[in-house]
Amino acid sequence: MSVYQATVSAPVNIACIKYWGKRDTKLILPTNSSLSVTLDQDHLRSTTTSRADPGFDSDRLWLNGKEEIIAPGGRMATCIAEMKRLRREVEEKNSSEPKLSTFGVHISSRNNFPTAAGLASSASGFAALVSSLAALYALPANPSELSLIARQGSGSACRSLFGGYVAWQEGTAADGSDSLAIEIAPREHWPDMHALICVVSDDKKGTSSTSGMQRTVETSPLLQHRIKHVVPERMKTIQKAILERDFDTFARVTMQDSNQFHAVALDTDPPIFYMNDVSRSIIAIVTEYNRLAVANGGKLKAAYTYDAGPNAVIYAPKENIKEIVELIVSYFPQAEPFKDPFALFGTAGVGE
Ligand code: DP6
Repeated sequence: MSVYQATVSAPVNIACIKYWGKRDTKLILPTNSSLSVTLDQDHLRSTTTSRADPGFDSDRLWLNGKEEIIAPGGRMATCIAEMKRLRREVEEKNSSEPKLSTFGVHISSRNNFPTAAGLASSASGFAALVSSLAALYALPANPSELSLIARQGSGSACRSLFGGYVAWQEGTAADGSDSLAIEIAPREHWPDMHALICVVSDDKKGTSSTSGMQRTVETSPLLQHRIKHVVPERMKTIQKAILERDFDTFARVTMQDSNQFHAVALDTDPPIFYMNDVSRSIIAIVTEYNRLAVANGGKLKAAYTYDAGPNAVIYAPKENIKEIVELIVSYFPQAEPFKDPFALFGTAGVGE
């Protein structure tokens, strides 16, 4: 008897131009395009195994070993249904294909990064889910096509289908068929680029991205300005900077966009605070580090960015990473760099 099973992993990504706001909450269509860097080091991934069997009478899911309910009509159910629909198309074209789309599927997913890293796992998680089902169902789909489905699991997940530098184009179609991820440049294009993750707190965030961004869409006038007058230009500028390996421009735009994302969170009613005092201290440290570099006739040496939580991700050319870790540790002596702090896309803990 045949065994139908596939295991695939997907990486975490961290946005430089932030996605914050949906124009369609069911299809997960964003109010603006976004751009991220995929942190595709081995220890920042979700790995998912999917198995189809005629004996499985329902679809089931285990996250880090614990079974989770697949809510009917929810995001997980939508992704599974969409993948089964694509499989059905394959089966209809070729009647000798086993009817896997009619079998139940059991899915088990694990994150290999420490929970303490406080990284959002929904991006790598949904990307790994969709990729493992694509492998199980032997679908001919390319990463951009799969991104259309991962997007319906969690918006930022669509960008984790690619390594390197990835844009999520907001698109204009009402059915979301052009709201997909494309690769701007592969990771090898700019091997000097590193990311340092500073874990400020691993507490669960107070306001989830999903509910926070919806409140911002409903109440923030600043968001409207950002969508229309700021992001389109920044998308162009940062793509050019990536293609030209221009770290100075990349860093400036990345920090500006992180700041504006947190400004729209504050402009939300009631306001949302994601950063804490330690986050703000790290901004001050990076700002001073850059100021000194520029005052000495140089260029920007590091860029901070913060998602919907207090943890910092610092992008910097490889040669600066050691200096930055030392600088941060000098301000936060209790901080302990963990696991390959100087490796490509390494991580360092900053502690509370
Ligand atoms: C601040 O993708 O987690 O990280 O689509 O509702 O699941 P949903 O939201 P999610 O939001 C990510 C927000 C962000 C910015 C970004 O990754 O672009």
